[in-house]
Amino acid sequence: PLITLRQLLDHAAEHGYGVPAFNINNMEQGLAILRAAATCDAPVILQASRGARSYAGDIMLRHMVSALTEMYPAIPICLHQDHGNNEATCMSAIRHGFTSVMMDGSLMEDMKTPASYEYNLAITERVARMAHWVGASVEGELGVLGSLESGEAAAEDGSGAEGKLSHDQLLTDPAQAVDFVTRTGVDALAIACGTSHGAYKFTRAPDGEILAMSVIEEIHARLPATHLVMHGSSSVPQALQDLINAHGGEMPQTWGVPVDEIVRGIRMGVRKVNIDTDCRMAMTGQFRKVAAETAAEFDPRKFLVPAMAELEALCRERFEAFGTAGHA
Ligand code: G3H
Ligand code: 13P
Ligand code: NA
Ligand code: ZN
Repeated sequence: PLITLRQLLDHAAEHGYGVPAFNINNMEQGLAILRAAATCDAPVILQASRGARSYAGDIMLRHMVSALTEMYPAIPICLHQDHGNNEATCMSAIRHGFTSVMMDGSLMEDMKTPASYEYNLAITERVARMAHWVGASVEGELGVLGSLESGEAAAEDGSGAEGKLSHDQLLTDPAQAVDFVTRTGVDALAIACGTSHGAYKFTRAPDGEILAMSVIEEIHARLPATHLVMHGSSSVPQALQDLINAHGGEMPQTWGVPVDEIVRGIRMGVRKVNIDTDCRMAMTGQFRKVAAETAAEFDPRKFLVPAMAELEALCRERFEAFGTAGHA
């Protein structure tokens, strides 16, 4: 069944596990993720970005997810708007059957320019009030995702935002988080702890200097009833970098968020873990492999079947590691 983020994360908090939020854009991603969820008996968050909504169309997305709920009736699914940039994006998502929305007021509508605290507070409070009228859940974000290595804020699409930011701006302030959650009434709070979107998060294996997991612990201590969200949580596995690069890809060496660190975060109160890049790399790695090894092949299913299998395996690993398995 389709359930709200609140219902799903309340259960996760009660039982001490985390839930991956996988980005979806098409049927193949939906099938692969739900096959993994069914195998692991795990609840799941399917999230659609604004880009996904314009790629597939709202009607297609709604019917796709409805089909997945019919195919997998035992799996609790939340359909969530990823990085809503204004009230209209969030409200139209709810109108199209989304049970949860993220209002990302940490950035202005362009999703590049860091916003003021007052702007974030006001717009998130408005969205939370409206969404709650109709029973949808709301995620807000406080702090600017970005690199503690370079001091650069990260735009939603993984590119750099304008200007350099201080260490403080790149980490969520625990005291401000209390004020924000109290005044907006959000169900879940995305925090900034040094991760960023996309494949190029760290230029070395991250340590406490560049991945500040301690922030999570401090925020959770002050807001024990608020579900914390980690964005930019792809692990960018070496095996997938190698798979891509072994078959004509040219991805420069990079490091993501180690699964162990995410598991540590879950122990400290993280409940929703956003993953897109790893899913993209899993599918694309197999596309490249098929293309390189079977150059005469032109049936898209011959590319998509192994791509779905690779994505399914990745999702199973995350469900197992995050403790989601067995909780459907
Ligand atoms: O936060 C960004 C997600 O990875 C979605 O990316 O806007 O290209 O669909 P997208
Ligand atoms: P990754 O790019 O690390 O997969 O992060 C995805 C994300 O945070 C979507 O909101
Ligand atoms: Na942000
Ligand atoms: Zn994100």
